Amino acid sequence: MSTSPRRTPLAAIVLAAGKGTRMKTRRAKVLHEVCGRPLAYYPVKRALEAGADPVVVVVGHQSEEVEASLRRHLPGAPLRFAVQKEQLGTAHAVLSARARLRGFGGEVLILSGDTPLLTTETLRTVIQRRGRAALAFATMTLDNPAGYGRVVHAPHGGPALIVEEKDATPEERQIHEVNAGLYCADAAFLWKTLSRVGSKNAQREFYLTDLVALAAEGPGAAAVRVSLVEAAGVNDQEELSLAARALTRRIGQELMKSGVMIEDPERFDCDEGVLVGPDTILEPGVRLRGATRIGAGCRVGQGSILTDTAVADGAVVRPYCVFEEAVVGPAAVVGPFSRLRPGADVGEGAHVGNFVELKKTKLGKGAKANHLTYLGDATVGAGTNIGCGTITCNYDGEQKHPTVIGEKAFIGSDAILVAPITVGDGAYVAAGSTLTESVPAGALALGRSRQVTKEGWATARRAQKSAAVASPAAAAPGRSRAGPRRPARSRRAAG
Ligand code: UD1
Ligand code: CA
Repeated sequence: MSTSPRRTPLAAIVLAAGKGTRMKTRRAKVLHEVCGRPLAYYPVKRALEAGADPVVVVVGHQSEEVEASLRRHLPGAPLRFAVQKEQLGTAHAVLSARARLRGFGGEVLILSGDTPLLTTETLRTVIQRRGRAALAFATMTLDNPAGYGRVVHAPHGGPALIVEEKDATPEERQIHEVNAGLYCADAAFLWKTLSRVGSKNAQREFYLTDLVALAAEGPGAAAVRVSLVEAAGVNDQEELSLAARALTRRIGQELMKSGVMIEDPERFDCDEGVLVGPDTILEPGVRLRGATRIGAGCRVGQGSILTDTAVADGAVVRPYCVFEEAVVGPAAVVGPFSRLRPGADVGEGAHVGNFVELKKTKLGKGAKANHLTYLGDATVGAGTNIGCGTITCNYDGEQKHPTVIGEKAFIGSDAILVAPITVGDGAYVAAGSTLTESVPAGALALGRSRQVTKEGWATARRAQKSAAVASPAAAAPGRSRAGPRRPARSRRAAG
């Protein structure tokens, strides 16, 4: 957020009432997400960064969802919401925000809810360049200006008017300088002049762009050229994906500037707000989402998806891991192919290996669960080894139950721990055990049936089979047409 003191109070209005028909979806356009945030988040956030207080968001389609989403993504921000019931045009939209700015004197930024690539610097430039003009607006020059309002300049000097494509003459359509849809206006001028805007035009809408001609009659307007990437609005799915790519590229560039190595920035996805420390290497295909924080000197392996996860310094995430609301401690090693679900907490230097799933489980310092294991609602002490194929049976069909394993314990392979259950410090659990009772510290628990060995059984069976091949009728009477089929008993023995 801006810290420099501003001369004039600044408010912002973000227009986000439209449905966005060209998206061809049921959701209002501004709710579609890029880099983990709804489209409308970006102009609102940039306006806040430029020092706007308050920011009024004009909502219409799915107004409750839009408001809830913005409040969730910008907790504590000075947001106000104005409902525009019918979308009668951009001027009408701005007017519907007026009541939310009663008593405000200063200048008002007006932005579109569908411009996620705007930067704070551009907002500051437009604000600054207004100078003494009643209104400043951003323009850009496009090879193909179709669909945009064209900027018509007076023979000597400033902009005379903006003409919408549908109202433009063939000559006006030849103009390549277009209105980007970003304005900064003096508040008094804005409210006074908006009431003079009518709807006598091709679309029968109240056009905000009429302000330019009305300003030209008096104190004048200033046109401020901005980069065309920035002001590009999102109107359909293709533009949404292009905006997401551009924003991701920008996020990646910022990370690289701060010392993060991104092996392939074109195969990297990252939500706005994710933090990554220096000397960390991100392999191709990594996706960092939500409030993920990664420390310094880490490595995140190819194809890993981390959501709302904290990874401490020096930790290694090997390829193809999926984490959600998890914590990975310093110098821990997780993966490949590990899944950390909400509440998984891998301690310092601990190891989690392939096909291991942790949910609401704390793995102590230096503990290991390296292969094919499920630990849920469990606490595992420091230095304990969890053998391959261990399962905590934490759910009885109705309730979840805890498993508590002490320090330096050894859980043999293929152990089934039926919770609630406790295994004490230094205890051993024999491989293949199913345990339903707790194990005291230092004990050995075996929970399996004794082995039975039948001497000579296999040899005898083989001999019986060769006899059957030599004389099939005798071995399987009545089955000669159906072909050889082993008796059920011997099939079971073979499995
Ligand atoms: C508008 C400009 C055009 C400019 C273009 C830049 C007008 C009349 N035209 O055209 O000069 O080149 O933006 O992208 O302003 N909205 C509301 N309520 C409404 C109407 C619109 O909230 O009643 C919102 C929309 O949801 C959208 C924004 O205002 O976020 C712009 O509206 P849109 O209809 O897309 O305007 P354009 O026709 O693109
Ligand atoms: Ca538009």
